[in-house]
Amino acid sequence: MAITPDAQRFARRVGGDVGEGIAAVLSLLGVPGLISFAGGFPDPSTFPRERTAELLGEFVATGETSAFQYAPTRGLAGPLEAVAARLEATQGRRPSDDELLIASGAIEGLELVSKTFLDPGDVVVVEAPTYLGAIMAFRGYDAELVAVPMDADGLQVDELERRLAAGVGPKLLYTIPDHQNPAGVSMSTERRELLVELARRHGFLVVEDVAYRELAFDGDALPSLWSLAPDVVVQLGTTSKTFFPGVRLGWAVGPAEISAQLVNAKQNTDQCAGALGQRLFEEYVRRGWIEEQLAQSRALYRRKSERMLAALERSMPAGTTWTTPHGGFFSWLTFIDGVHSAELARRAVESGVGIVPGGLFYVDGNGADKVRLSFSMVDEERIDEGIELLALLALSA
Ligand SMILES: Cc1ncc(COP(=O)(O)O)c(C=O)c1O
Repeated sequence: MAITPDAQRFARRVGGDVGEGIAAVLSLLGVPGLISFAGGFPDPSTFPRERTAELLGEFVATGETSAFQYAPTRGLAGPLEAVAARLEATQGRRPSDDELLIASGAIEGLELVSKTFLDPGDVVVVEAPTYLGAIMAFRGYDAELVAVPMDADGLQVDELERRLAAGVGPKLLYTIPDHQNPAGVSMSTERRELLVELARRHGFLVVEDVAYRELAFDGDALPSLWSLAPDVVVQLGTTSKTFFPGVRLGWAVGPAEISAQLVNAKQNTDQCAGALGQRLFEEYVRRGWIEEQLAQSRALYRRKSERMLAALERSMPAGTTWTTPHGGFFSWLTFIDGVHSAELARRAVESGVGIVPGGLFYVDGNGADKVRLSFSMVDEERIDEGIELLALLALSA
């Protein structure tokens, strides 16, 4: 029987425009010569090319097989040990063996958590704004998303408390507490403490995404939610911004019972994260190379951020505001009334500048006056020119 490839056969969950939104953003990156503040990609100059080549050469020369073979679903023992040791060093808590698993990136962590917890109609609280990939993951399982606003100190936990008191009953709460994507702000320590207390009191699980945690410009970090409350937090981490995203590698750490279910879910997702990437990362950590790369990356991103903020200060129309990141990849811009960011993004591409309109980061149609600016991958020498062009467009909007 011939199968017609028409969209009517697609599952309901693939409808909607969020997927198209991400595709549009990624396609912006492909325009030749574009000064792109669009993608949250790491700067290619941070990629450890020579060291990767050296390690690959060693794996071949020593006849190693594990890097080339399937791995256990939870992860290879050595890489698990390397991640556990790093968690202990950077967050002050060492996970037990049954709490940690290696995932194929934080995106896969989101998929595994969603698959494990979400039935249609289950409520997930997200930050407003939040990471588009998370919105897609939760929507993919027909969750109902409830957005709680943020300010300069991250998620407004007092507002969350009011919503909980008013009867909102989430199964999960998703947050990016450090150098948030897209807002570029971090959650204060007081709010972190209150948030995990609310999770315990109201019986929801906190999903903590630490994608940018290790990229504080001064190297300092506030206590992770997982270290504060390992009983009610699953932490999703990634090596994409600190090693390189080509390996698609990350971790999920949380209560043993949940971790076991995530391992089950992974068995029919990809069965195991790529062993080659796991072994490369393990050696990278063991030899202390990750710390060297982190120091260089932090300095690079700090320089780029400062340059972009200075250019914004010089050129943006009066009344425009933006966040001041202390790490990560992003600043979040709010225009004065009358500037429509989706329209501005379209005109910006025509003028050779890529930006992401704010609406993509909201679940409730907000964000028309906002824009995410990523300084991570844009050519340093072209930051001023890009921001000046953007300011001219905003002035004429
Ligand atoms: C907040 C956040 N989480 C997760 C990811 C994706 O991480 P990974 O490359 O490990 O899938 C990103 C990447 O843009 C991100 O910004």
